[in-house]
Amino acid sequence: MESTVIKTVDYNAYFGDNRVVKDVNISIPKNHVIAVMGPSGCGKTTFLRGINRMHELIPHAKADGKIFLHNEDVMQMHPIFVRLKIGMVFQRPNPFPNLSIYDNVIAGYKLNGIKLQRADKDKIVEEALTKVALWNEVKDSLRKKGTFLSGGQQQRLCIARAVAMLPEVLLFDEPTSALDPISTSTVEELFHELKKNYTLIIVTHNMQQAARVSDRTAFFYMGELVEYDDIKKMFTNPKDNRTQNYITGRFS
Ligand SMILES: Nc1ncnc2c1ncn2[C@@H]1O[C@H](COP(=O)(O)OP(=O)(O)O)[C@@H](O)[C@H]1O
Ligand SMILES: [Mg+2]
Repeated sequence: MESTVIKTVDYNAYFGDNRVVKDVNISIPKNHVIAVMGPSGCGKTTFLRGINRMHELIPHAKADGKIFLHNEDVMQMHPIFVRLKIGMVFQRPNPFPNLSIYDNVIAGYKLNGIKLQRADKDKIVEEALTKVALWNEVKDSLRKKGTFLSGGQQQRLCIARAVAMLPEVLLFDEPTSALDPISTSTVEELFHELKKNYTLIIVTHNMQQAARVSDRTAFFYMGELVEYDDIKKMFTNPKDNRTQNYITGRFS
């Protein structure tokens, strides 16, 4: 039996009175990669940011319905704690420009006021960089600025920063759209590795990427979760006209 890590029940997200995510019900199984796809403006980012309570950081934004992390109601948990358990990686690699590679990895601890011994820091840094397949590339330049790395390495550094906080779930918003094809494939390979220890939810507008990386794909259209299935099934036998139109390229 697969266990569910994230489950939403009639989840809605709004900007002012504009409801942009509509009654979403989804169950996300542990150690899976879920791709979220759909045309621009359909609510992918808003939905993703809702899962770790970042949506509410935007003025006039609100949300209702339920999101469960296991059996705990995320809406009732402290948002800082939620964001430790559910990490986020953004579209553009955003290492802290004035911090070294080493300090970038442990930045989450500093930001949350968690003091660590030097030996613990060293261990966390090595483990996190190893998990994102970056350790061998950077172990001799840990004191250099993170921004000195290539785009793909910077994105893996940002994933290491999230992983360092020992999350259960990692959220990615179009994580490779600012990367070249080679960096993109290093990050995509990493997803297969990361899902052994984490549950990944990846927004992508790239159907090929969804097909390459995901175990299951959620198709959003105008704020609704229209279809949620194995992407091969979606490609060959979509249940909904809107999915069919999307995969045949009738809108982007
Ligand atoms: N900060 C914001 N303020 C008001 N409306 C927003 C904001 N961000 C996004 N929206 C609107 O919410 C809808 C969903 O946007 P978004 O979640 O960014 O879609 P996607 O990620 O699928 O492109 C769009 O209609 C967009 O214009
Ligand atoms: Mg978006």
